[in-house]
Amino acid sequence: MLLEVKNLKVNYGNIEALHGVSFCVDKGEIVTLIGANGAGKTSTLLSLARLGKPEAPSVAEGDILYEGKSILSTEPHTLIQKKMMVLVPEGRHIFGNLSVKENLEMATYARKGDEAGISEDIDLVFSLFPRLEERKKQRSELLSGGEQQMLAVGRALMTGASFIMLDEPSMGLAPLLMYDMFRALKRLNQQRNMTILVVEQNAKVALEFASRGYVLDTGEVIAEGTCAELAANPRVKKAYLGG
Ligand SMILES: Nc1ncnc2c1ncn2[C@@H]1O[C@H](COP(=O)(O)OP(=O)(O)OP(=O)(O)O)[C@@H](O)[C@H]1O
Ligand SMILES: [Mg+2]
Repeated sequence: MLLEVKNLKVNYGNIEALHGVSFCVDKGEIVTLIGANGAGKTSTLLSLARLGKPEAPSVAEGDILYEGKSILSTEPHTLIQKKMMVLVPEGRHIFGNLSVKENLEMATYARKGDEAGISEDIDLVFSLFPRLEERKKQRSELLSGGEQQMLAVGRALMTGASFIMLDEPSMGLAPLLMYDMFRALKRLNQQRNMTILVVEQNAKVALEFASRGYVLDTGEVIAEGTCAELAANPRVKKAYLGG
């Protein structure tokens, strides 16, 4: 198993945000965590990426295993340097005053000496997101919201990580762009064997593109299964798929 989350309890001071969450992600899978506002999706990803306070919660109990080893004491930059995982956080974290190309290049800091791989991945980003290629010399703050979201995913890809976690990549995207985004993730999974953990409020699209999923509700996993099973689950249908 690539990633195993075991009975994870995390808190922000006195507030416990996850009350014993367990799930796993195997190499090459696309797994989704779906849930409503405040369910604990972002808290889960921030914990996995080992980010610290103040934005991330502290782990009170449980464990996070990566290839069987606990990463609870691993620093976030080590996860990037060892290309173990990369998080595309909620919102768009890009350098607005830099060009699109410069943003992509900056993300390769842990890949010194891998010029061939870097140039191959730039081509891959531009083939997944042609709009970025058309705008590669443009200051990235002038990109549309959807294009900035593509750039954020492109930056994650440029780190060279083989496991990418995304926090609501569909947020703020018009339906067509949202499907483009998920199709790009699917291509990354198929062509690069990229392992993907995607958190979504939009359960419909997430269940369409992932292979397995977990439903998070107020800090607990309340359902899990293949996406087909979840889409057919009456409780999931009623609460997350509009009946
Ligand atoms: N920095 C913080 N300090 C205190 N409580 C927080 C903090 N961040 C989140 N929480 C609380 O933790 C719980 C889980 O929040 P989280 O952001 O993980 O939910 P989410 O599923 O990502 O929701 P959304 O879909 O709105 O992004 C919520 O009750 C929230 O109020
Ligand atoms: Mg969130």
